[in-house]
Amino acid sequence: MESLHGPLKREGGGVREEGGGAVASPPCRTTLRITQGCPPQVLCLSLSLGFKMVKVSTVQTKPYTDQKPGTSGLRKRVTVFQQNQHYAENFIQSIISVIEPAERQAATLVVGGDGRFFMKDAIQLIVQIAAANGINHLVIGQNGIMSTPAVSCVIRKLKAVGGIILTASHNPGGPNGDFGIKYNISSGGPAPEGITNKIFEISKGLQEYHICPELKVDLSKIGKQTFEVDTFKPFIVEIVDSVEAYAEMLRGIFDFAALKDLLSGANHINVRLDAMHGVVGPYIKKIVCEELGSPANSAVNCVPQEDFGGHHPDPNLTYAADLVNTMKSGEYDFGAAFDGDGDRNMVLGKHGFFVNPSDSVAVIGANITSIPYFKKTGVKGLARSMPTSGALDNVAKALQMQLYETPTGWKFFGNLMDAGKLSLCGEESFGTGSDHIREKDGLWAVLAWLSILATRKQSVEEIMKDHWQKFGRNFFTRYDYEEVDSDSANKMIKDLEAQMSDPSFVGKQFSSGDKTYKVAVSDNFAYTDPVDGSVSKNQGLRIIFSDGSRIIFRLSGTGSAGATIRLYIDSYENDAQKIYQDPQVMLAPLVDIALKVSQLHERTGRTGPTVIT
Ligand code: G1P
Ligand code: ZN
Repeated sequence: MESLHGPLKREGGGVREEGGGAVASPPCRTTLRITQGCPPQVLCLSLSLGFKMVKVSTVQTKPYTDQKPGTSGLRKRVTVFQQNQHYAENFIQSIISVIEPAERQAATLVVGGDGRFFMKDAIQLIVQIAAANGINHLVIGQNGIMSTPAVSCVIRKLKAVGGIILTASHNPGGPNGDFGIKYNISSGGPAPEGITNKIFEISKGLQEYHICPELKVDLSKIGKQTFEVDTFKPFIVEIVDSVEAYAEMLRGIFDFAALKDLLSGANHINVRLDAMHGVVGPYIKKIVCEELGSPANSAVNCVPQEDFGGHHPDPNLTYAADLVNTMKSGEYDFGAAFDGDGDRNMVLGKHGFFVNPSDSVAVIGANITSIPYFKKTGVKGLARSMPTSGALDNVAKALQMQLYETPTGWKFFGNLMDAGKLSLCGEESFGTGSDHIREKDGLWAVLAWLSILATRKQSVEEIMKDHWQKFGRNFFTRYDYEEVDSDSANKMIKDLEAQMSDPSFVGKQFSSGDKTYKVAVSDNFAYTDPVDGSVSKNQGLRIIFSDGSRIIFRLSGTGSAGATIRLYIDSYENDAQKIYQDPQVMLAPLVDIALKVSQLHERTGRTGPTVIT
């Protein structure tokens, strides 16, 4: 077994504590009641190693029916986790129950989170429940902090069976905010549906869970803490530096000397990176400031806070407005913001020039040789989620690369990566990444952009405009209607689907202003995984017009209250006179048609979206 602190020294043995009654936490040598039942040879080993002994309790519980993991784990209000008895315990037990008992004694699980309120409580529960279920080894970020991409990296590095990430991503935090628990598998990626369904099934029938209630770990102290638990092998909790393994990985992907020159050399550019009080702060500080030499004031909001300073840790034009305004001054050449758990990113150029995430992945694809990693691995294929604009398709076509269109959610990319079919992928929802791990990776995306700036010696805006000149431009927008009444949202989608499945819908013409569009395809997107043949249905309603323009409707799978309706519009333009226009102006007719066809406003009682991207 590997460990971030070198190989584990001891396996086997174990002190059995019969009949309960042990006082758990103090080291064995000071706990007479525990030592009384120990066979002398085992006692001796425990004494010499100073293990702490803990007892296992089995707690009766009642199952919950609402613990179905969504697009990205189980997300609920903090109050749901806090106020419902055993709510978090049940779900954690359900996760651990999917690991075969026979595997657990050799199993390492990685644990980390985005620093939000309730994270530390949840980590202590994970420690107690993992120990009681015979998991051998937990690797936890110091103070619980570890970004989602870093967890993915550490799972892969340690060949762990998986990891548990405590995050609700870009959702607000704090006592009245959201909390989330997500399970990742040994590839480092989010658990696929087969596993999340299994977790859900277990949770619906759960009658009891196992826990070592007195086991407490000090999350602040780097190093290993070892415990004796029942008949199991010693249980090891290893607290690791939150950044180091991830930083080491990035050093192998990018040309750090070139990046250092770009950020702190004689002709350096000025960058502004906003961690939005999320988990990525310590990563920016260590990698971008300390190692690449960017001045300390180029990084803001870098101390993770339990409530993200009261803000939405969501890197978009609405919630990262501070960054957008600062960039407008022209003082900075490059700006970026990240979400709570560090997997999302937003890229801005000087004066706040916005790079749409669908364009961002396309630009990285077109300039992929700026990143040394891909010179080593080659480019195996490109992928985007279905609602993401077709900008990446244009690059794939021009560079003759394979392009995959997957349902929303990063987990669908994982299978393609594991099968060696995919190198670079992205989603319109500010997610960009590659096969270096199995999660999207905010800081990776920023270093990818900086690598392109270093190679091309052009501004963000120049690079983007050159790109549109060369490949044409996909105008894209997304409208989000948050916390809509669930029944109204479901009914709207159901009725729209019925309307779209009428055979006469294909061929129908829709007009707005002087624009007329003819329906070429209308369906509910289904995906057959090219690797394992699994089919995912109902992934979003698509109306595709004869010119390739698309209108897409989906219900969010990550919300924690009510329903969120997402409306996506994508339309391609290669007329050089039109490619610099405002997307909202260009797409207004398609938005109008989408709202008319769906009756979205009438059906939900809304007059406009909560967020426009
Ligand atoms: C949203 C995004 C999706 C992303 C997911 C997790 O999911 O739309 O692209 O993968 O968050 O970050 P949704 O709420 O739409 O289900
Ligand atoms: Zn996230």
